[in-house]
Amino acid sequence: MDFKLEKKDINSKARAGTITTAHGEIKTPIFMPVGTAGTVKGVHQHEIKDDIKAQIILGNTYHLYLRPKLDILKSAGGLHKFINWDKPILTDSGGYQVYSLSGRRKIKEEGATFSSHIDGSKHLFTPEYVMDIQRTIGADIIMAFDECTPYPCDYKYAKNSMHMTHRWLKRCCERFDSTEPLYGYDQTLFPIVQGSTYKDLRKQSAEKIASFEREGNAIGGLSVGEPDDEMYEMCEVVTNILPEDKPRYLMGVGTPINLLENIALGIDMFDCVMPTRNARNGMLFTSQGTINIKNKKWENDLSPIDPDGTSYVDSFYSKAYLRHLIISKEILGAQIATIHNLAFYLWLVTEAREQILAGTFYDWKAKMVKQLGQKL
Ligand code: GUN
Repeated sequence: MDFKLEKKDINSKARAGTITTAHGEIKTPIFMPVGTAGTVKGVHQHEIKDDIKAQIILGNTYHLYLRPKLDILKSAGGLHKFINWDKPILTDSGGYQVYSLSGRRKIKEEGATFSSHIDGSKHLFTPEYVMDIQRTIGADIIMAFDECTPYPCDYKYAKNSMHMTHRWLKRCCERFDSTEPLYGYDQTLFPIVQGSTYKDLRKQSAEKIASFEREGNAIGGLSVGEPDDEMYEMCEVVTNILPEDKPRYLMGVGTPINLLENIALGIDMFDCVMPTRNARNGMLFTSQGTINIKNKKWENDLSPIDPDGTSYVDSFYSKAYLRHLIISKEILGAQIATIHNLAFYLWLVTEAREQILAGTFYDWKAKMVKQLGQKL
């Protein structure tokens, strides 16, 4: 993997760059649609590529390991071949999914034991095994196994957990560096900064993570319920320390405003279920603010879904029709809303990149943050 920093904004820490992977280039800042179980729910590959214009998608180790399972992925020649996607893929390590299982998991030094949400079967994820699984899935960028702390989290727990994540990282690196890719192309491993909402821990963690000198770095444990300002504060502490010449990935974030604020703090990569999950509930993100398409006010509104939208669904279907589909729980409603939201997220980060390149990011961001906060 390679990262070229192309331009730095003079009024903020925003950057534009290019990541090159074995499956092609990613222009940053970038948003990665979440394709948990080998599918961005409800969307065809050609729509993801040609309409939404995604450059990379995300998969989840935890889900893919449980279903379809590793033997199937291996015989397919990896996830790219299995789902017929020839662009970059990143897999999350399961650190977050295991954390989400709260009552069904136990974390100890060796690793995390959990029972499957599918059939209750018991499993153990160690840092070494999670590397092996991600070798088998075959994503271009794979994530270290970490513990994502909850919010709020007491200082002592956060500190001990952070140190364990660092020890797990050492084990991840040793396993990753002593194994080969299975399918003939390179993979790279990103470590994850933790430290909850404590500045001193975040600083310590960022310094430790940077010392591993991997090709990119991630920030985890945010967007777990803390106020936005705390997220930005933590992000700022960390981006002041992580090396400039490597991509920085903020995991699980966020709203369109969160994306812009964190781009301004020097983040290059994002993923979040919000555009896809909220779409299925009828929440649409647009450049003018958010729309709850289930509201009665849209019942007879035959205007296009989003006159400023870049996706074909935006002008092809009306608000009233999409409202009808979502309220009737028609599959097509979820599909249209998902395509719209993802195309909007990809537009937003692409436009942010253009503004950074043009030297106009700071003023554009201020204008956009005002617009994006509106409820239509
Ligand atoms: N996704 C969102 N937050 C996190 C995190 O802290 N760790 C991992 N592995 N994935 C995440």
